[in-house]
Formats: sequence, structure tokens, C-alpha cells
Amino acid sequence: KKVLIINGPNLNRLGLREPGIYGHETLQTLEQHVKAFGEKQQIEIECVQSNHEGVLIDHIHAADTTFDGIVMNPGAFTHYSYAIRDAIASISIPVIEVHISNVHAREEFRHHSVTAPVTAGQIVGLGLQGYELGILALLKLKEGES
Ligand code: DQA
Repeated sequence: KKVLIINGPNLNRLGLREPGIYGHETLQTLEQHVKAFGEKQQIEIECVQSNHEGVLIDHIHAADTTFDGIVMNPGAFTHYSYAIRDAIASISIPVIEVHISNVHAREEFRHHSVTAPVTAGQIVGLGLQGYELGILALLKLKEGES
């Protein structure tokens, strides 16, 4: 099984960016931890990050034939990118949406996700463990299929 982890805009700034909200861990260490977690579950993990909407869309399209599922944090695109929503809707593998912070406890504009309706589910506000929970959710969804 192969899972793609996609991080969207500004998540390359993890560790430096508003640490009171997103913590002190960097994207690099997050990706290392997630890969080690995947290995334990016998899942191959690949991680990508981009600040560019079109690049994220290309990753989503390409994953459809090469991965079993996606765990994605679309960053602020969550709240307004119909293009990313349509890209998710265009593929047949499940996507789990992850937010590190509790977006519902923050500014009003973060309360709405335009992408969530086309995902298998959303994990919100549980910090960086959200990515691992997303992988577990994909595994459970797979089990349910067979
Ligand atoms: C985020 C929440 C978004 O509102 C914000 O724009 C981000 C990160 C999160 O992981 O909590 O970039 O997706």
C-alpha cells in the first residue's frame, strides 16, 4: 500500500511559523515521523509540499494511478480553492483532509472548508498526529472495502 502526504502553502514554514498554533516541529521532522509510522504499518509513504495551487493539483491527479490514498493538508486553500476541490473530486482514491490547528476555534474564515465535502473525512485540531490518524483512517477504509 502506498499513501501520499500532501502539504499545501506555508507548511514548509512549520516550526518557524506561529509556533503557538502549529508547534515547534519542522516539516522535515514531521515527514520523517510520518514515514517511520508508515513503515510500522507496512505502508509506503511519500511526502510532497508546495506553495502553488497548480502544483498541488498536479500531485493530486498523478496520485490517482500510483497511490492507494492521500492525506492532505491544503492549508489556506481549504477555505477557497474550488480548483483543489475539483481536483480531489476528479480522482477515485480516498483523500483525508488534515488540519493541525483547531480551525473552528480560530478566525471565522477558517471555519468553512470547500474541500472537505469531496474528501472521505476530516481530522482537525489534533496537532501533527492528525497525519498519522489520517493514514490509519485510510487503512480502515481499505479494510472495509475488502
Ligand atoms: C491549517 C489551517 C488553515 O486555516 C491555515 O491556512 C493553514 C494550516 C492547519 O493545518 O491548521 O495553513 O490547514
